[in-house]
Amino acid sequence: MKLADNKATLSFSNGSPSVEMPMYHGTIGPDVIDIRKLYGQTGLFTYDPGFLSTAACQSAITYIDGDKGELLYRGYPIEQLATQCDYLDTCYLLLNGELPNTAQRGDFHKMVLKHTMVNEQMQFFLRGFRRDAHPMAVLTGLVGAMSAFYHDSTDINNPQHREIAAIRLISKMPTLVAMAYKYGKGEPYVYPRNDLSYAGNFLRMMFATPCEEYVVNPVLERALDRIFILHADHEQNASTSTVRLCGSSGTNPFAAIAAGVACLWGPAHGGANEACLNMLEEIQASGGISKVAEFMEKVKDKNSGVKLMGFGHRVYKNYDPRATLMQETCNEVLAELGLENDPLFKLAKEVERIALEDDYFVSRKLYPNVDFYSGIVQRAMGIPVNLFTGIFALARTVGWIAQLNEMISDPEYKIGRPRQLFVGATARDVQPLEKR
Ligand code: CMC
Repeated sequence: MKLADNKATLSFSNGSPSVEMPMYHGTIGPDVIDIRKLYGQTGLFTYDPGFLSTAACQSAITYIDGDKGELLYRGYPIEQLATQCDYLDTCYLLLNGELPNTAQRGDFHKMVLKHTMVNEQMQFFLRGFRRDAHPMAVLTGLVGAMSAFYHDSTDINNPQHREIAAIRLISKMPTLVAMAYKYGKGEPYVYPRNDLSYAGNFLRMMFATPCEEYVVNPVLERALDRIFILHADHEQNASTSTVRLCGSSGTNPFAAIAAGVACLWGPAHGGANEACLNMLEEIQASGGISKVAEFMEKVKDKNSGVKLMGFGHRVYKNYDPRATLMQETCNEVLAELGLENDPLFKLAKEVERIALEDDYFVSRKLYPNVDFYSGIVQRAMGIPVNLFTGIFALARTVGWIAQLNEMISDPEYKIGRPRQLFVGATARDVQPLEKR
């Protein structure tokens, strides 16, 4: 962070003295005004619910240019990472700042793939859940419970503990997600196989049974790996900010990541892929493509409360670059599985076509986001709809850890403690019951 040449001056219409505030340059993106001393100097807070204009931290991990539709992990365009690297390379990059060389790549892959098994006791903990529990409810519990299983890596202020916790979380998340799936289905858990790739191992834990051998399809393996890359990090989104805020109290990394999982579950965030597929299935059930125009009218009617799921983004005011890559993967997977004429895919294309031409969406810069096509890909692979957000959580775990570690290592880090504009009752006395 570099001090900018100019400063910001805040003046007041009531004659109070104006206040000068320093400004900083990042490497790209808007400059920031440093308001940290504002309260001390003026007794005033700023007001920014939803963080529309507030940078809550400095970060060197992920950069999004929402107008250009650009996404960079540590400076590398998402398009290059998605086509030239795999998910574990991307994890290494997010955690360490650089892509691995051959030796580092081999060591990192080996390390992650060696720690995939979870403590056997975890399955008894899982058994406490109802079989029909939502996988995100189960995952929130299982990830939080990791702090009860791995006591030797819970000190967030110890860099070695953080490193061990990072590897454990990345290695074991696929195992936990697959266990949550198998438990819901009533099938036996499938133990990880460390000779398979990260994505291949996950597919096997999901779809193998003890009754027959499962052969990993390389097209699906690559598609899943790409889903993981595209979801690996996304700067200061709601769940990442949750992880940072939770971790800022000094809580252990597993607890902080569990908070991220809980936040991701919401339909405005990670739950959008599930909500999007449900939406497409509802349109399909109501009559299919011929009903799309009618549905879009409902979306445009503010009183209907209906949103076009998989569209719009707080930061992207252009095509989400992840959606372009996901659409490509969608074509590949559907072709591999002989589902080119999948009615839901056709329906999605029609929804997209109408939205991209309609003034409601164009004027508000609402474009498809990553979730618009990821649900169709996952459904084609046989992944149940209610597990989509769990897979997003699996992929985002590395981003959460990288951001958490960056925060803890930042000398300017403090416990997060927003202030408020209080609009409730002023001090008053409790009245006796008969007078209330
Ligand atoms: N369908 C219909 N109208 C929309 C939509 C949508 N999906 N998204 C935004 N709008 C309208 C909104 O009603 C508002 O209209 P007006 O200016 O007339 O009041 C305008 O567009 C601006 O929207 P906003 O609500 O101020 O935008 P936001 O930045 O607060 O919300 C969002 C961003 C992602 C929560 C929202 O676009 C949304 O709910 N989208 C659907 C859910 C979704 O797909 N979420 C996944 C995001 S990508 C995955 C991730 O990173 O988690």
